[in-house]
Amino acid sequence: MKNKIALVTGGVGGIGTAICIALARQGYFVVANYVVPGSEIAWQNKMKAAGLGADDCAIALADVADFNASGKMIADIHATHGEISVLVNCAGITRDVSLRKMTPEQWHAVINTNLNSVFNVTRHVIDSMCDRGFGRIVNISSVNATKGAFGQTNYASAKAGIVGFTKSLALEVAKKGVTVNAVSPGFIETDMTAAVREDLRQQTLSQIPTGRAGTPEDVANAVVFLVAAESGYVTGTNMAVNGGVHIYQ
Ligand SMILES: NC(=O)c1ccc[n+]([C@@H]2O[C@H](COP(=O)([O-])OP(=O)(O)OC[C@H]3O[C@@H](n4cnc5c(N)ncnc54)[C@H](O)[C@@H]3O)[C@@H](O)[C@H]2O)c1
Repeated sequence: MKNKIALVTGGVGGIGTAICIALARQGYFVVANYVVPGSEIAWQNKMKAAGLGADDCAIALADVADFNASGKMIADIHATHGEISVLVNCAGITRDVSLRKMTPEQWHAVINTNLNSVFNVTRHVIDSMCDRGFGRIVNISSVNATKGAFGQTNYASAKAGIVGFTKSLALEVAKKGVTVNAVSPGFIETDMTAAVREDLRQQTLSQIPTGRAGTPEDVANAVVFLVAAESGYVTGTNMAVNGGVHIYQ
């Protein structure tokens, strides 16, 4: 059994899968959380294609918007695979619509999935990380947390909340060997952005200084840096991975 255990919520999604592969290649045993039954099959095929099997990774079904379900998932992982030393909070959804048309359901779905999930999962791993004197937490925020975006009052609020959570928890656990950082991707090619209208997509791409959309691997590289044992002096940051489209620090 590998002794470095990583949990990636939303791990079977576009960015999540790239993070799982990158962490497995760093020697972690990676557990990918997922919520839609059947969505793990494509992930299993991608891991296999990357040369990764049952010795390298596993899946865990749970709705991370649910506190108790998140706790059960963590307890199961700790019992089956060992204590989690790396947590990547990556689960997310969009329900884009201008505020004047937004329903309470669209607001709460995004806040519950994108922000409350970060509390739900982190709350269940933080004691173990602090007790063992080592932990790495990376929360996937978004460029739109700091930039804002038309039709995303719900999403931008959740992602900005993640940044505040990250900075505050970083202070609380700094003395325990646990770092807490955020990564804020810009426009990354995944299923989430495939839903964007073609004219808006072209407009977005034309505004990116590096001249291309980001890849899930661009985000995974940032995560690999932040979770490294050597990165223990990097905490409370919000790392932009956006091709220069929004430079905020
Ligand atoms: N793609 C981008 O351009 C972009 C930009 C900025 C931030 N992000 C963020 O990156 C993260 C990953 O996004 P992606 O582009 O890979 O999207 P994706 O849709 O491919 O992946 C998101 C995953 O989260 C899962 N998920 C949703 N609700 C869940 C829940 N309640 N419990 C467990 N899992 C749940 C989904 O099933 C999916 O597998 C998200 O947090 C997203 O907001 C993406």
